[in-house]
Amino acid sequence: MNPILTELRFEDVQPIWKEQLWPERTSKIEKISYISSSGIIDMQIGQWGTNPIFLGFTNNTEIVACVSSFQTNQHEYRCRGIWVQESFRSTGLGLKMIDALIEIIKKNDSQASTLWTMARLRSVGFYQRAQFKNQQIIEGYEYGPHQMMSRILDSQSMQSV
Ligand SMILES: CC(C)(COP(=O)(O)OP(=O)(O)OC[C@H]1O[C@@H](n2cnc3c(N)ncnc32)[C@H](O)[C@@H]1OP(=O)(O)O)[C@@H](O)C(=O)NCCC(=O)NCCS
Repeated sequence: MNPILTELRFEDVQPIWKEQLWPERTSKIEKISYISSSGIIDMQIGQWGTNPIFLGFTNNTEIVACVSSFQTNQHEYRCRGIWVQESFRSTGLGLKMIDALIEIIKKNDSQASTLWTMARLRSVGFYQRAQFKNQQIIEGYEYGPHQMMSRILDSQSMQSV
């Protein structure tokens, strides 16, 4: 059966993040992160990011891919925690999840202008393929250094959704 794109809850995604994406992580996994697109801690994100999105692909038995997004300031949204089960990698699920996120974000907030991410260096190529552009490199966080990357959200840059 082909995996189906599904809306998820934090409770669905949290165990995958803990066991698969960030197995050695020592800091608590929360619904949102307070790191800004400039790479600094910004507690105001708590006021913007009150409605995080969690979505992924499921087959009959399990979640095989997931991602999250939440607002981080007036016009920016972060893409966080993208993961695809190894046996489903390179089949397009990652790109489809990014497109689905953008569709939801633009539907909810027509003023949304940027989707940004904090990419591990090993994933930069994937995000470039998903039309993200490199910004600065930041250090000092678990699984770093990270490449900050962003994608402008205009109708021209949308792929098929
Ligand atoms: C990164 C990840 C989410 C990509 O998901 P995916 O479903 O395999 O990606 P897709 O199949 O949609 O790939 C889209 C394109 O990106 C390319 N790509 C995927 N991962 C890549 C990588 N790490 N480096 C360079 N290119 C990559 C694919 O080859 C494909 O290119 P093509 O369309 O020209 O053939 C997945 O590899 C993963 O879960 N990795 C482990 C977790 C992780 O590192 N998450 C990111 C943390 S920042």
